Amino acid sequence: MPITLVRLDPEDTDREALVDFMTRNEFPFHTVPSPSRTQVESWIAEGAYRDEDNDSFWLEHDELGRVGFFRLEDLSDDAPLFDLRLDAPFRGRGLASEVLGAATDLVFGTMPEVNRFEGQTREDNVPMRRAFLRCGWLKEAHYREGWPVEGGRPVASVAYGILRHDWETGTVTPLVWEDLGA
Ligand SMILES: CC(C)(COP(=O)(O)OP(=O)(O)OC[C@H]1O[C@@H](n2cnc3c(N)ncnc32)[C@H](O)[C@@H]1OP(=O)(O)O)[C@@H](O)C(=O)NCCC(=O)NCCS
Repeated sequence: MPITLVRLDPEDTDREALVDFMTRNEFPFHTVPSPSRTQVESWIAEGAYRDEDNDSFWLEHDELGRVGFFRLEDLSDDAPLFDLRLDAPFRGRGLASEVLGAATDLVFGTMPEVNRFEGQTREDNVPMRRAFLRCGWLKEAHYREGWPVEGGRPVASVAYGILRHDWETGTVTPLVWEDLGA
């Protein structure tokens, strides 16, 4: 796997690089698409990048160098979620599934208490949704109008998950949507 997740220190050695990364990139599918320095600094102070629930990593590629940022969320829940942000020049180049695969290996490989790994994105974030499917994640929920859009109609929020058992065996445990029949 050419991607390595390198744990970062948001309050000390990586603080400036983190602020720089977050403020020079656009994140059109996030609730705050263009964070300001003040916003990022307040997230750092609140522990959004590292506390008992959150941990953050740089995404280092063997040949390309640093290609993005990855954060684990809800770590005290035993079913973490994540936030993945590639640096703009590295988007659309087929890296998403490699990153997701490396992150899934990190979670199941180093966190024995975790049985499920979860992710959520907007319905129109097609690259992220395709990456989930390519990596063996299963769509588990489609929350209609679950994602507020400033000045517009909300879009759906789509939830995916992968089970430890499926990661270990390379399978996808199916679910039946209409399990009670029509
Ligand atoms: C979302 C993100 C991680 C995806 O990574 P990426 O490297 O840009 O995506 P990829 O180039 O690997 O493409 C992933 C898949 O989507 C497909 N795809 C890409 N753009 C597409 C488009 N506009 N329409 C349809 N499919 C598209 C690719 O062909 C690929 O499909 P495949 O695996 O079946 O071949 C990246 O664009 C990003 O960081 N965006 C900003 C932050 C963000 O939205 N993060 C997600 C929050 S969880």
